[in-house]
Amino acid sequence: WMRFAPYVRAINALKAEKDAVVLAHNYMTPEIFHGVADVAGDSLQLAIEATKVRQQTIIQCGVHFMAETSKILNPQKTVLIPDSRAGCSLASSITAADIAKMRADYPGAQVVSYVNTTAEVKAASDICCTSSNALAIVEAQPGDTVIMTPDGYLAQNIANQSTKRVVYWEGACIVHEQFTAEELRAYRDSYPGVAIIAHPECPPDVVAEADFTGSTAGMIQWVKTHKPAKVVMVTECSMSDNVAAETPEVDFVRPCNICPHMKRISLENILWSLHSGGEEVTVDEALIEPARRAVERMIAVTN
Ligand code: 13P
Ligand code: SF4
Repeated sequence: WMRFAPYVRAINALKAEKDAVVLAHNYMTPEIFHGVADVAGDSLQLAIEATKVRQQTIIQCGVHFMAETSKILNPQKTVLIPDSRAGCSLASSITAADIAKMRADYPGAQVVSYVNTTAEVKAASDICCTSSNALAIVEAQPGDTVIMTPDGYLAQNIANQSTKRVVYWEGACIVHEQFTAEELRAYRDSYPGVAIIAHPECPPDVVAEADFTGSTAGMIQWVKTHKPAKVVMVTECSMSDNVAAETPEVDFVRPCNICPHMKRISLENILWSLHSGGEEVTVDEALIEPARRAVERMIAVTN
């Protein structure tokens, strides 16, 4: 923490001076999560908070689609991302033309797109979802068949609980697709009594081995409520680091996978953003309205 302290102080001072707010995803490193975030949360919480911010500038500490979502919800505000190369394997797996093709294949089916998509794909979708509201959103759609994009594993996990027929795009998260059911069984053998909690972007056989599955916020809440003696969080590495700081009584077994996109964000480039006003995130005028409709419909179903 000693080496982070000057950055944390400088960032927090500049935020006030520049009328800026820091929205940070749960996968940010602890010095960002605990040191400079005004709001930290899962994708849904960040989208909801983005509708409430009073500051003129939003510094999005997360990946590019999250910054786009904030811009879509706040076209009049300045949205900055400390490194615009912070992408997402899900968001880059699908285009609006792919959505049009799926609509043609399943006429009349509603398109539910994960927020992990570009503004263009959101604009081409009927409604968005996140991992914390996906089941409710799918269930709320008219018709027997629902198209889910772009995460094939999330879609299969939802299909296992849904009354709808779910057809899906086969995108995957590079962090969660790497976990295997065999690996989870090995944790149980090595650490008897261990609690295993997984993110629904994991393959269905991994989810089937877990004691709980939920969004990053759901996973954090589960650990804080159940306070297991030992836990494995089957997700991105910073999650255990961030929750461990708040739950010293819980022992975290830490096999995890790093998201290289999330890890592009650092205290150094957050400070750079505040100083320089870079990198500004813009969304094509024509996409803002239809993309916002899809995000706002999601928030309306959730609230
Ligand atoms: P949530 O925080 O909504 O669970 O999403 C996880 C994720 O992978 C975001 O990139
Ligand atoms: Fe995308 Fe996965 Fe990284 Fe989240 S963790 S930004 S879903 S690649």
